[in-house]
Amino acid sequence: MIVRTAVCAALAVALSASAVIAQSKAIAERKEIMKGVGAAAKSGAAMARGSAPYDNAKAVEIFVVYANAAEKMPGLFPDDSKTGGETTASPKIWEDMNGFKAAMAKWGAEAKAAQGSVKDIDSFKTAFGAMGKMCGGCHEVYRVSK
Ligand code: HEC
Repeated sequence: MIVRTAVCAALAVALSASAVIAQSKAIAERKEIMKGVGAAAKSGAAMARGSAPYDNAKAVEIFVVYANAAEKMPGLFPDDSKTGGETTASPKIWEDMNGFKAAMAKWGAEAKAAQGSVKDIDSFKTAFGAMGKMCGGCHEVYRVSK
C-alpha cells in the first residue's frame, strides 16, 4: 500500500512535470516563431524604405516566413500556456480562440497570395504595407504589452 502510494505520487510528479514542459515549450516556440517574423519584417522594411536593394527572392521569402508562422501559431496556445515564459499573449486569445484563429488564417492567406503576386518593389510595398497593418491589428487585440 505504501509502495503503491509512492508510485502514484511519483507518477503524478512525472505527469505534472511533463505538462510544465509542454506549456513552456509552446510559449517558447510561439515567441521564437514571432521573432522570426519580426526579423523578416525588419528586412522587408529596409527594402521598402530603399535602405536595402530590392530582391524579389527575398521578398517572396518574407511572405513564406509569414505564411509558415500563420500556419503554426494557432496550435501553440494550449490552455495551460496562458501565463509564464514571459508570454505577451493576451487572455483574449483563449476567450475568443475562433476569432484569433480567423485572424491568423486571414494573415496566412494574404501572405500566400503575396508570394505569387509580388514581382517588383511597387507590388512588394503594397503587399508588405497591407500585411504590416495586420501585425498591429492582431497585436492590439490579442497581445498585452509588458
Ligand atoms: C493573428 C495575430 C498576429 C499577427 C497577424 C501577428 N502577430 Fe506577432 N504576435 C502575436 C501574439 C499572440 C504574440 C505573443 C506571443 C507570446 O508572447 O506568447 C506575438 C508576438 C510578436 C513578437 C514578440 C516576440 C517575442 O520576442 O516574444 C514580435 C516581434 C511580433 N509578434 C512581430 C509580428 C510582426 C512583425 C507581424 C506582422 C508581419 C506579426 N507579429 C503579426 C500575434 C500576431
